[in-house]
Amino acid sequence: MLGPATPPLELVASTPKGQLKNPYNGNIAAIAEEGHHRFLSAGCNGCHGGGGGGGMCPPLTNDTWVYSADDDTLFRLISLGSDELKKAGYIRIKHETVVGPMPPFGNILKTSDDLWRIIAFIRSVNPNSVNLESTPYTVPDYLR
Ligand code: HEC
Repeated sequence: MLGPATPPLELVASTPKGQLKNPYNGNIAAIAEEGHHRFLSAGCNGCHGGGGGGGMCPPLTNDTWVYSADDDTLFRLISLGSDELKKAGYIRIKHETVVGPMPPFGNILKTSDDLWRIIAFIRSVNPNSVNLESTPYTVPDYLR
């Protein structure tokens, strides 16, 4: 049975594209701090800054999203890394200050719950993206 303890890569493999949804939506503020702890302990801050504002890698606090800001795309990007995400058919839509691969974290984060909490933290530092939770990833015409 799939649940909060399911490892991220298993959840990705067993959920059809576009269908991953954060169980903490609507409850972001309450979860953000715990998500932030996991963000720091996984080492995301080394590249994205301690508050997600960027550093040597793209900020998570701005309105530019390299692939898409929806739950499904973010969960897959963070689990698979950007190289595997692209193999799964996702195309870069936007360019941030830094263009490079994002490493996979699907084996570093033990449970889907850990990753959903981290995504809740990202929403908390990027309130605009909350409106995009369920906006599906689409490739714009000019990139087809
Ligand atoms: C080694 C550096 C590095 C680490 C560590 C890292 N990332 Fe990234 N991340 C990147 C890069 C580079 C990109 C841009 C990928 C691209 O352009 O294809 C990225 C992209 C992202 C994006 C999309 C940003 C956007 O503007 O669209 C999110 C969300 C993200 N990372 C979250 C995380 C989380 C959460 C962690 C920790 C679990 C993490 N990253 C760890 C380098 C890193």
